[in-house]
Amino acid sequence: MIRPLIISSFTIQSVFAFSQCSINDPTYVYQSKFQSARQSALNARRSHTTKDFDTAYEYLAQDRHSQLPNSKPISWFRPADLERQTNPFHLEDVEIQYTSNQDKKLTKMPLYPCGEVHVPFACGNYTLNNIQERNVNMAKDLANNQWPSSLFCVALRAKDTNRIASTATVMQVLQMEDRSVPMHSKIVVTCKAVGIAQIVSIDNPQVWNDDYAGDEYLIANVDIRLNDSITDSESDGTTTTTSEKNHQYTSLANQLLSNYQSVKSIYSTSTTIASNELPPYALTAIQSSMPNYTISDILQPTKFWSVIDTLQTLCNTLRQAKFNILSSTINEMSVDMAMELLDGPLELPVKRHRLPKEAQWKLNEMEQRAFDDYWEMGMDPVLDFQMLMEMECHWERVEKVAMMVGGELERLEAKESLVRVFLEGEQSLMDRGDEVFG
Ligand SMILES: *[C@@H]1O[C@H](CO)[C@@H](O)[C@H](O)[C@H]1NC(C)=O
Ligand SMILES: *[C@@H]1O[C@H](CO)[C@@H](O)[C@H](O)[C@H]1NC(C)=O
Ligand SMILES: *[C@@H]1O[C@H](CO)[C@@H](O)[C@H](O)[C@H]1NC(C)=O
Repeated sequence: MIRPLIISSFTIQSVFAFSQCSINDPTYVYQSKFQSARQSALNARRSHTTKDFDTAYEYLAQDRHSQLPNSKPISWFRPADLERQTNPFHLEDVEIQYTSNQDKKLTKMPLYPCGEVHVPFACGNYTLNNIQERNVNMAKDLANNQWPSSLFCVALRAKDTNRIASTATVMQVLQMEDRSVPMHSKIVVTCKAVGIAQIVSIDNPQVWNDDYAGDEYLIANVDIRLNDSITDSESDGTTTTTSEKNHQYTSLANQLLSNYQSVKSIYSTSTTIASNELPPYALTAIQSSMPNYTISDILQPTKFWSVIDTLQTLCNTLRQAKFNILSSTINEMSVDMAMELLDGPLELPVKRHRLPKEAQWKLNEMEQRAFDDYWEMGMDPVLDFQMLMEMECHWERVEKVAMMVGGELERLEAKESLVRVFLEGEQSLMDRGDEVFG
């Protein structure tokens, strides 16, 4: 499958790149509607912007969870927390259901924290570019068969709290290429997402610190989740019969399929979206990355991950496109402001801190507003997909995906009808014009 604009190599590198530079103006506080959630969740790392439309933040996870109170929250941990736990242990408020670690067959493997969620059982391969010393060491050890079946796991890392999601993607290395040059190591790893695992403990929590610098990688003991249940647990307290349940499931699956086809069709044919929402390259990417699915793709748990993968690709493309549109607007405005407000010759690129405070504030506010709009859109490639990974029941997952696709369809249809109303308005003005002048 083509995977447009999921540039894993870029994102993985950028996780660490972004976490090391703080580009914020500390004097600027935008009173966004997420401020209170943000306040409560941010403890150590307060100086983040979300202007790159990155959503790997715990405060955003809390915000989303508060909108869906019945869903299970993402559980996060610090490696040192796990060391201190005794059995049965808790990750924050989420209890892990083991009475003892010995009850489960745990597998030891390297842990790779990063800012993206990697969907398991997807059709394509993932590419990870390793340049940090610890990741290069991990790749070399995997290549030297130091780890059984060349398995490692990738887990989402929250950038505001620096905690790690306890549900991780199990990866298997397929191919490795050493592209190091003198003084600069680089190993490109091609891997396949083969499963989901629960991180149970960390052997070397001391290597994890705020910057996660150094040459040693984390080693986790994980419980590989073999089979997810198809249905809900028996004890949901209702008296629905199996056939009623089956009927509900079938209609949910059909609804999802039909909404998916409608979304696909709007992206393929709408001139509205093309002229108002997305640049042509993004539309082309979306069209080529949305295959036709059938009901069996939804009914079978493993196949369903391909549908999820497609949805994540769509989310990634939308994020990239929205981000590109915002950056070019911001760049143009910065240049205009610099020409108008600064003395001396124009320096490019415009450094924001050289602009007057008012102008900086205006640009920052624009970015924050664009981010809030983006987040409200509900097409985030990170946190919603982490939630899907955490679910252990297939139909719960189908329900969430159905909600996301349904929401996207509603959004697209609202856009279309808005433009239609506008065009009809123009038409009727023209008609009236004809009457006056005709
Ligand atoms: C994944 O990588 C392997 C090894 O490089 C290759 O043989 C396979 O064709 C790739 N699969 C896809 C879907 O690209
Ligand atoms: C998982 O499912 C497969 C086939 O669907 C079955 O053979 C296997 O025993 C199951 N494993 C567990 C741990 O339930
Ligand atoms: C998907 O379905 C549409 C309409 O039903 C059809 O025109 C198109 O050729 C199909 N695409 C593929 C790849 O099968």
